[in-house]
Amino acid sequence: MRFILHTYGCQMNVRDSEAASALLKAAGHERVENEADADLIVVNTCSVRGKAEDKALGKLGLLCATKRERPNRIVGVMGCMAQRLGDTLFTQIPLLDFAVGTRRSGAIPRLVSRVLFGETNISEISSADEIPDVPDAHTEHGFSAFVTILLGCNRRCAYCIVPDVRGPEFSRPAREVIAEVTALAQQGVREVTLLGQSVMNYGITNGVWSDSDPASPNGFTEPFARLLEAVAQIPGIIRVRFTSGHPSGCTEQLVRAVSLFPAICHHLHLPVQSGSDQVLTAMRRGYLRSDYLSAVKRLRAVMPDFALTTDVIVGFPGETVEDFEATRTLMDEADFDNAFIFKYSPRPGTPAAAWTDDVTETEKMRRNQVLLADQDRRGEAANQRLVGTIQEVLVEGPSLRNASRWAGRSPGNKIVVFDPAPSVLPGTLARVRIVRAAPQTLYGELV
Ligand code: SAH
Ligand code: SF4
Ligand code: F3S
Repeated sequence: MRFILHTYGCQMNVRDSEAASALLKAAGHERVENEADADLIVVNTCSVRGKAEDKALGKLGLLCATKRERPNRIVGVMGCMAQRLGDTLFTQIPLLDFAVGTRRSGAIPRLVSRVLFGETNISEISSADEIPDVPDAHTEHGFSAFVTILLGCNRRCAYCIVPDVRGPEFSRPAREVIAEVTALAQQGVREVTLLGQSVMNYGITNGVWSDSDPASPNGFTEPFARLLEAVAQIPGIIRVRFTSGHPSGCTEQLVRAVSLFPAICHHLHLPVQSGSDQVLTAMRRGYLRSDYLSAVKRLRAVMPDFALTTDVIVGFPGETVEDFEATRTLMDEADFDNAFIFKYSPRPGTPAAAWTDDVTETEKMRRNQVLLADQDRRGEAANQRLVGTIQEVLVEGPSLRNASRWAGRSPGNKIVVFDPAPSVLPGTLARVRIVRAAPQTLYGELV
């Protein structure tokens, strides 16, 4: 069948969609670009905020409505909302053919076959703590690919649905991860991003290294630092990223590993959520403002160019104006390169959902806008400081806006636009001197 996958949510979902796509292709289906051409449509869903679920439900409703004209169309749902709502989705959307949970996405081709044989409203949703069989299939990546190394989350922040829908932590064996990255490198991938909700927890709740694995040449004993060391040295891999971070993972070994290997980018997405100790404690984030800022200091003491991005929630239950102002000053102190700001959204079954959602929608909106304006200023200043520096850019090819110029990304994950030269090829590193900075883009010339 001709299929298309729509993906909502985070990079974890992007990776799961890519694997599902590879499995569907291996089963003989053909991926198409346009929804109008597709006979099979799968929506990969996110549950993190109410709006994310509303969007996915709306999309599924519209897609199922098209089955009136196209009765042979198959519509399925995967991802976090499928895991959370399970079979109740068939009551809400009776024409939905299948639903597959976060730890069973490998079952998609089989579910499609069953629908083709006449079944409908079928689901395959395991308990969220099943040890999954993680598909290692990749497809359609360019020079950059995602590799999931840690599934689930054990932190249980008071507001967050992720541990319910993604289950507890499970770290994949290091050998499996290294084999997957090696295979990707052989297919031409130059940059990998290692994924986990709290990625530095890799190998903490279950063993990932075995006695037969070679010891770390640099004396790393922490499982994640050891993995970074191994991945950074895989031939063909010239860039390594990892996300998301947690301050508790910014250990001496982590800092040493990142600074030791040129392939590892000096950039981390380190969600802070709030700058107020009162709110951080209520959120059960496991750190205080000072712990977060110390982690930042540890990174920048060794790597002054270290770029940081973050997530912030405004309007958490009980967040006062003083708490909010503390977030503003923290964001200045941490000097973030970029920040994603979210309005608190109560999620069913989480501890915080039982607390009064006492910050009004208007006030959440105001706080959201204040932080966005602050960040625009801060981000622009951070870009201006890069004017005159030489950035190592992973070349992607012609820029989206103007095909006569080329674009790539800096180690800090900023888009850099420059005039191409015959000697500079996509998928290689080029040195570019930055001559001009716009809020979202850097412009430069090859050196
Ligand atoms: N594991 C990552 C975050 C995954 S969810 C981490 O903790 O680092 C992505 C972001 O969504 C979070 O960082 C948080 O800012 C936001 N988020 C999660 N639950 C939310 C909720 N109930 N309301 C609003 N934003 C939320
Ligand atoms: Fe959610 Fe917290 Fe886990 Fe991130 S660390 S996924 S915010 S519970
Ligand atoms: Fe959303 Fe699931 Fe990611 S809830 S943010 S898609 S882990």
